[in-house]
Amino acid sequence: MHAVLDSVASPGQSTRLRAFLDERAPATPCLVVDLDVVRTNYHAMRAALPEATIFYAVKANPAPEVVAALAAEGSSFDVASTGEIDLCLAQGADPESLSYGNPIKKAADIAYAYRRGVRRYTFDSDGDLANLAEHAPGSRVWCRFLVDAPQSGTPFGKKFGCAPEMALRLLARAADLGLVVDGACFHVGSQHTDAAAWTSGIAEAGRIARGLAEAGVATRSLNLGGGFPASYRDAAPPLAVHAEAIRTAVAEHFDTAPELVVEPGRAIVATAGVIRAEVVLVSRKSDHDEHRWVYLDIGRYSGLAETENEYIAYRLRTAHPPTPDGPVIIAGPTCDGDDVIYQNTPYRLPTALRAGDHVDILDAGAYTASYSSVSFNGFPPLPTLFVG
Ligand SMILES: Cc1ncc(COP(=O)(O)O)c(C=O)c1O
Repeated sequence: MHAVLDSVASPGQSTRLRAFLDERAPATPCLVVDLDVVRTNYHAMRAALPEATIFYAVKANPAPEVVAALAAEGSSFDVASTGEIDLCLAQGADPESLSYGNPIKKAADIAYAYRRGVRRYTFDSDGDLANLAEHAPGSRVWCRFLVDAPQSGTPFGKKFGCAPEMALRLLARAADLGLVVDGACFHVGSQHTDAAAWTSGIAEAGRIARGLAEAGVATRSLNLGGGFPASYRDAAPPLAVHAEAIRTAVAEHFDTAPELVVEPGRAIVATAGVIRAEVVLVSRKSDHDEHRWVYLDIGRYSGLAETENEYIAYRLRTAHPPTPDGPVIIAGPTCDGDDVIYQNTPYRLPTALRAGDHVDILDAGAYTASYSSVSFNGFPPLPTLFVG
């Protein structure tokens, strides 16, 4: 087998992972995750923001091996469902280390979480707050507000969070209902490369904390959510830039420093994973077409969900020398017309690329295998293999 060459620089890539792929030649498509890189990223986040408690957002990569590795390092966990609660507890996480961060939940699921020992919750509505008071009495709560910030790489829109003034009212109500008010939380949207996004959220959270103090309600912590970026085709600013912006804004907008909480997902697992895919077909739509269509054995429905709107532009690697190359449109294998991965983002691949060649999709450890749970068109979900 050829040595695999980078068509672009790949600083996040572990050599062990590349060796694993080349030596074991696993069936494609597959995701391979280096657990040592997961651990390294966790400690890099701790080093960048030592004053913050890390709740790893399990949804980014819910592989039991990833959860177990992070539990062993002392991470806490942001969970979105009873399934993720069961997963974390089964991997040795302490129920005290779990936070049920999804503001959209059934009363029965809150009751289940409480029975399993979960005592931290996020809400953003009157209805969920009432359910928490009834089914998770005495628990610690954050209220998520909508942050007015520039759009992130993969934005949430307005689905989560409420207006800041409503968050203030709801948190005061939470105290009346016997819940322990932790404070405000926000999420700037995933893959945020602009540190100013956290600055405006922290300023708003400071106003909420002061409003609550005036109403006689003390707050304990500030939950800054996730959103910390990974480098894909465009390099992301280092964590230290975000950490410094956060530190400066907290000092400016809080009289007493709150305990800080972060819920990183992508920043912990993205660079730990590589997807190895195979080229199914290379074709052109006309004899004069400059673009080749490169169809892979992985697409939008089997792991590359974040290529919707071409939000995430992964770096690609083939075994061919990077040049000569030419423009390509890259698509998945299904019969769905939307299963086109990149047609607007300019990608070039070696002209020597043929059916049967491998294409490695780099830094693909976050939001890939977990989005690939349905056997759409009969293509099986993306398996994950591990090193480390
Ligand atoms: C509540 C919550 N926290 C944290 C995260 C993780 O975000 P990221 O992977 O951008 O760090 C998410 C992502 O959807 C989320 O919904």
